[in-house]
Amino acid sequence: MKYLVTGGAGFIGSNFVHYLLQTYPGCTVINLDKLTYAGNLDNLKDIAGDARHHFIQGDITDETLVESMFCEGIDVAVNFAAETHVDRSIGDPAAFIKTDVYGTYVLLEAAKRCGIKKFIQISTDEVYGSIEHGRSSIETDQLLPRNPYSASKAGADRLAYSYYATYGVPVCITRASNNYGPYQYPEKLIPLFVTNLLENKPVPIYGDGRNVRDWLHVMDHCRGIDCVIRNGADGEVYNIGGGNERENIEIVNLMFGHLGKPESLKQYVKDRLGHDRRYSLDSAKLARLGWRPQVEFAAGIRETIDWYVKNRWWWEKLKSGEYWEYYRKQYVDREQK
Ligand code: NAD
Ligand code: DAU
Repeated sequence: MKYLVTGGAGFIGSNFVHYLLQTYPGCTVINLDKLTYAGNLDNLKDIAGDARHHFIQGDITDETLVESMFCEGIDVAVNFAAETHVDRSIGDPAAFIKTDVYGTYVLLEAAKRCGIKKFIQISTDEVYGSIEHGRSSIETDQLLPRNPYSASKAGADRLAYSYYATYGVPVCITRASNNYGPYQYPEKLIPLFVTNLLENKPVPIYGDGRNVRDWLHVMDHCRGIDCVIRNGADGEVYNIGGGNERENIEIVNLMFGHLGKPESLKQYVKDRLGHDRRYSLDSAKLARLGWRPQVEFAAGIRETIDWYVKNRWWWEKLKSGEYWEYYRKQYVDREQK
């Protein structure tokens, strides 16, 4: 099998590349990534000499490049490439619309023209919007995205479906919950807080700290995507949830407890604009295809924290230059509650 993985130098994409190479020794992986601030070749360092993996630095909005790649022959394309941080989308949405929506269109057009066995669009549970109370989202629920990131992802999700319904492109769409694990850029809750705590810096907790996310280990996510590649029906959507709904403060307390840090490093700050209260996924549809999350939550979180403890070389150099410009805009002078 020849896979095209877009965004394969990011957090989930790089874990997925590792997963493919380990699980399918005979596979070939073409990895197309623009290397934005979130893309990092260090995520792929340990497979640098692997002849089955071909890294190409490029943009998914580049029609000529994308079409030439598809027309060389791809069996399966998995589109991870995206701008992914909600806070950045609130400050500056343009790149989200360009990459997440237009870039997905470029990939789908190339798949339509050149042919493909399966096109996986990586969507997100955020497209359902905030599920304040009550039952978990199922795949046929209405989409009510509420921030520029999730609205762009919802656009791409439905655009991918339209290429199935209109042109018969064999598309499947996955909607996963919050991933945790190694190689996550230190702007997202877990790596940001762990690395701040390792430097004895305060951690900025939005609002009352009681927003709920459903945590999924990145390797369980990879196994879920693989299950959809192999068993998913064309045109269908599959939720991939960890089944671990937790208030943010519970996750924060786990990090403080594991690292033995004082309460004084907890800093409650002004809430994120339009902050979705809760995401909640029903993953029964994917379970019927044989998928189950395998990583037990408490153990997975501990291992993840330990990974950042042991791999300072990986994150210390990321926290410099552009990172601090972003951090200052985002957090410094943020009014305290
Ligand atoms: P990430 O920000 O870590 O990585 C994104 C990658 O895409 C980076 O390597 C970046 O360089 C690349 N990229 C960005 N723009 C590009 C472009 N125009 N052309 C080519 N490459 C480009 O993101 P992630 O957390 O790994 O998320 C991967 C995918 O999974 C995204 O589509 C995201 O919406 C989705 N998702 C993420 C989560 C999560 O919890 N992280 C949950 C559900 C779905
Ligand atoms: O649900 C899936 C989504 O999960 C993905 O589609 C997104 O790409 C991914 O970024 C993630 O979005 P969230 O907004 O849920 O993740 P984030 O890590 O930014 O925030 C998790 C929670 O922690 C959220 O309620 C906001 C809160 N938070 C986050 C940051 C960065 C804080 O309290 N303080 C912070 O500094």
